[in-house]
Amino acid sequence: MSEIVYLNGEFMPLEDARIPVLDRGFIFGDGVYEVIPVYSRHPFRLPEHLARFSRSHDAIGLDYPMTDAEWTRLVRDLITRNGSEDQSIYLQVTRGVAKRDHAFPKGVKPTVFGMSSPLTTPTRDAIEHGVATVSALDYRWQKCDVKSTSLLANCMLRQVAADAGATEVVMFRDGFLTEGSSSNVFIVQRGTILAPPKNNLVLPGITYDVVLELAQTNGLTHQVRPITENEVRTADEIWVTSSTKEVLAVATLDAKPVGNGKPGAAFRRMHQLYQDFKRTVMRQAA
Ligand code: PDD
Repeated sequence: MSEIVYLNGEFMPLEDARIPVLDRGFIFGDGVYEVIPVYSRHPFRLPEHLARFSRSHDAIGLDYPMTDAEWTRLVRDLITRNGSEDQSIYLQVTRGVAKRDHAFPKGVKPTVFGMSSPLTTPTRDAIEHGVATVSALDYRWQKCDVKSTSLLANCMLRQVAADAGATEVVMFRDGFLTEGSSSNVFIVQRGTILAPPKNNLVLPGITYDVVLELAQTNGLTHQVRPITENEVRTADEIWVTSSTKEVLAVATLDAKPVGNGKPGAAFRRMHQLYQDFKRTVMRQAA
């Protein structure tokens, strides 16, 4: 079955969706996006994803083209029109089509796009054994809190991981942990879960918030503070989190084992809490 996508007010098969080459998303990467996981046909944390989407629009001076109620309807339509129980909904808005000129064009309609793909959550093997990571210098820009489609640096950094046969990069800027190419990073140090603060150098992850909430509600010791590179390299556990990776343990950093090289006790606890939480939320939504 062909995927059904949404483009500028219409639903159509993916292969029929076309945009003009002068779209500023194509020419400049001038746009913002969201990725929303869907479990058993229920979008997970949709209001939070939409709040971040709206903030990304504000940050790049782009009018939010639809209300949250309209986005919610669109997300539900995409879920219904596409087959799978578990999906990944992708929403993107670009500044629209205009003659190539860096400054923002006036009076141009944004391009609004939405699609759904089957959700691929981590394999059993990745959950049970953890994943490999490599470190990298975070050379991205100073507005990493904006979920922008300008992802060249993130793609290049992910390729560093791919070339090393690893799943993700763990990035450092000025000697401090930032995040991965498409995930947030936590460490566990002597039983304390540590997360870098949300600032302009990291994406405020929706999964990051869920993990901290679960730590809070379940009385797990945790702290949000800057984390040095040395603390990451000597951590008992490292986790990566995102809407599609959920919570994953890191087995190796630069080919060296993290802790004993296996997912740790704190990870196993958090992974279970996350799965239980998902199930509870989905049951309430049903
Ligand atoms: N990426 N940091 C970066 C740079 C990201 O791109 C992402 C998400 C995250 C985690 O955010 P969340 O928990 O809200 O998914 C952190 C998405 C999944 C992507 O680009 O496909």
